[in-house]
Amino acid sequence: MLKKKVEDICNRQIEREGYSSNLYLAMASWAETKGLSGVAQWLYAQAEEEKLHMLKFIKYINERGGKAVISSFKKPPETYKSVEDMFKEVLKHEQFVTSSINEIVDLALAEKDFNTHNFLQWFVTEQDEEEASAQAIIDKLSIGGKNNLYQFDRDIMSLRAKPGVTAATE
Ligand code: FEO
Repeated sequence: MLKKKVEDICNRQIEREGYSSNLYLAMASWAETKGLSGVAQWLYAQAEEEKLHMLKFIKYINERGGKAVISSFKKPPETYKSVEDMFKEVLKHEQFVTSSINEIVDLALAEKDFNTHNFLQWFVTEQDEEEASAQAIIDKLSIGGKNNLYQFDRDIMSLRAKPGVTAATE
């Protein structure tokens, strides 16, 4: 049975993963309207992964005798100054999610909830990959990708560490 404190912080994470999914959907939609179909594809795949992260928390809470709560999500921004700015926001957001996961790890250890600690290890690795992936894209843009968006857009899917939707089915 999950302790209430752990249940609450896991429910907070449902909201954060759900918002992440919506944030990337909004970014994908923006990129699509700019004719950047590769960037949009990358972001749609990312949105799908975030939805599956949310589902992992929902199922975990319920399986451990808690009650998963789906809250409303705040509206993500609609526009960005540039593709580079947008990916800087992606990295900033993933760093925020990493610190959020780390807070749950901290609490799980403090509460001696080793099941939750074990459950979270997948997310610890995933966050590492997601930050690295966003950083790799920013690096590509800064070494010239932003001056050749056509090529960057064509190649961006090759920068994914793994195929989009499969990761979260693990
Ligand atoms: Fe599920 Fe990218 O945080």
